Amino acid sequence: MSAVCFDRVRLALGTRTVLDDVSFAIADTEFVGVLGPNGAGKTTIMRAILGLLAPRAGHIAVLGQPARRGNPALGYMPQARRERGLHLRGWDFVAAAGTAAWGLPWRGKAERAAVDRALDLVDATALARRPLAALSGGERQRLLLAQALLGEPKLLLLDEPLISLDPHRQAEVVALVRDVQRRLGIAVLFSAHEVNPLLGAMDRVLYLGAGQVALGPVAEVITGPVLSRLYDTPIEVLELRGRLFVMSGTQDMERTPHPHAQGGHGNGREVQHARL
Ligand SMILES: Nc1ncnc2c1ncn2[C@@H]1O[C@H](COP(=O)(O)OP(=O)(O)OP(=O)(O)O)[C@@H](O)[C@H]1O
Ligand SMILES: [Mg+2]
Repeated sequence: MSAVCFDRVRLALGTRTVLDDVSFAIADTEFVGVLGPNGAGKTTIMRAILGLLAPRAGHIAVLGQPARRGNPALGYMPQARRERGLHLRGWDFVAAAGTAAWGLPWRGKAERAAVDRALDLVDATALARRPLAALSGGERQRLLLAQALLGEPKLLLLDEPLISLDPHRQAEVVALVRDVQRRLGIAVLFSAHEVNPLLGAMDRVLYLGAGQVALGPVAEVITGPVLSRLYDTPIEVLELRGRLFVMSGTQDMERTPHPHAQGGHGNGREVQHARL
């Protein structure tokens, strides 16, 4: 069974078409990096999988069922993370996600064990008693991950968990998520602006271009020819000391907004619903 299956899907926000005629399938134990510049549709795709945005065309299946709101088999770490609950201790902060998802009370024996287990999974037991306000960005990130794992999800959607972390912490978060994903045997969609922190951890990459996607192993997707087709503009991929640089002219695309990001929709480009 696929964790996520898109069949000729169109996603739009207002009058803006974000993805058009997109088909792909992600297996139930894969770690997939979701990449693409600002505005490419990474958040939109996750919201559609969560059933928060209905496709305008096509069909989205999640773990064998039509995408629907409130699916307990999904764990989600949104990109927009409000600095709420800073007064809470780590344990209560994780438990608060249970309260938000399943309502009060979240204090029964089974619920307490679930919070303990989620903290243990992300190696954050030592943070349980400390107030959030006293934690570093990386430590808070760990607790957010514990929140997303609370319902023992089969599919974890993490939207930009590396934002505002330094490279060392980024590597730690990626390794942690990879470890949890393998131990639980679940699927993970992990969005990021830059491919390099995810190299070595992900099984495949879902690269979002101007209204289209390319899914496949890094070596097959992050190449000049594939990305040039995806964006309908010449793109070069440079490799330097094991790191990849996606260049459009003289600009590093993963570090600057892409010129097509505001206008993209399927317009007869060569790559339609690329399955690689
Ligand atoms: N309500 C809206 N009406 C029209 N367009 C919208 C609306 N909300 C978002 N958009 C546009 O939809 C596109 C996709 O946005 P999305 O947030 O999915 O991109 P993203 O890849 O997650 O970007 P980022 O890297 O900045 O998080 C963007 O161009 C955005 O400006
Ligand atoms: Mg986003």
